[in-house]
Amino acid sequence: MRSFVLSTLAFLGLGAVSVTAAPFSFPLPDGFPTPSADQTKQIEIGAFGTLPNGPPPGSISGDGLTNLKLIALNELFEVAFFTELVQNITNHVPGYEISSRQQRNFVLATLNAVVAQEQLHALNANGALAHFGAQPIQPCQYNFPVSTFDEAIGLAATFTSVVLGTLQDVTQIFAQNGDAGLTRGIASVIGQEGEQEGWYRLLQGKIPSELPFLTTSTRDFAFTAINSFVVPGSCPNVGTIPLKTFQPLTLLNTPKPKTMNLKFSWQKPAVPVPGGQLWATYINQQNVPITEPLTMESVNGNTVVAEALFPYVEFEMNGLTIASLTPSPGPFANADAVAQAALFGPALILIN
Ligand SMILES: *[C@@H]1O[C@H](CO)[C@@H](O)[C@H](O)[C@H]1NC(C)=O
Repeated sequence: MRSFVLSTLAFLGLGAVSVTAAPFSFPLPDGFPTPSADQTKQIEIGAFGTLPNGPPPGSISGDGLTNLKLIALNELFEVAFFTELVQNITNHVPGYEISSRQQRNFVLATLNAVVAQEQLHALNANGALAHFGAQPIQPCQYNFPVSTFDEAIGLAATFTSVVLGTLQDVTQIFAQNGDAGLTRGIASVIGQEGEQEGWYRLLQGKIPSELPFLTTSTRDFAFTAINSFVVPGSCPNVGTIPLKTFQPLTLLNTPKPKTMNLKFSWQKPAVPVPGGQLWATYINQQNVPITEPLTMESVNGNTVVAEALFPYVEFEMNGLTIASLTPSPGPFANADAVAQAALFGPALILIN
């Protein structure tokens, strides 16, 4: 039984402590994110397949454009992460040594394919944006809060499960806005990211398939999580993405596969919370969100610490749980309703 916990603040905090290297920045030697036709052909060879070669639909909704922008932002971040991971393993950076030559070769072959495949995901989203007359999303500079191979794989599994949840939201938003022609390609990427997730899980000694129905997420939670890896102010046109970010929420203890209290910490906002009270709200699997009261533990300057029940047993809360703080107990009908209300989050919990 293993668990892995991250929160957006932990990303920032750990990043600040452990990063001595310069932030990761583009372009790559292969021309990405703006490769020539020949360079794109090379990326396709590395990806074991091609960009879709038919045209996107003739038109798209406004919300559909936001979907493509978020996908591009996310895929650019993933290319950065996996490129740096390959570099660390290739250069025998301490913490990234893999002693078995056979395993090292397989890990590098896999991650090199992942880099090229994520590059094509990003090029596909940015290509569609250009096709629809919108600005392609430009890359940022990034810092990653990891310094060993195991931490890197744990982080990859965490953000990939957030992506797997968020692409559910993206598909539903395309469907609701008359963008059915874009859903099939997204479904193909969901499967692709799921194959990756199975391998990241296996590397951690977990069974490859996480849950019967993967946890859902929403665009705003993903947008906030991606932003936590970004060097502030380094994204040239992130302002063209009309999504919101939440205030950071930190999980202070380690969730276990049992019903227990979780300890959260956050910074008192400048403007007091409407109603003055907060609840912990959990999104897990395809279930109705769960809301639990918070019990205040301490207020130290602006730092608030409070506890809430994590009802693991009652709801069999394995896999990804997205925790946030909401200014009401709901009830929240679905993840969208939580994202509408939430003020702090996401804290990302991964059990088993
Ligand atoms: C690569 O190694 C450096 C130095 O330890 C570290 O700061 C960075 O986060 C690592 N990146 C990844 C993706 O593992």
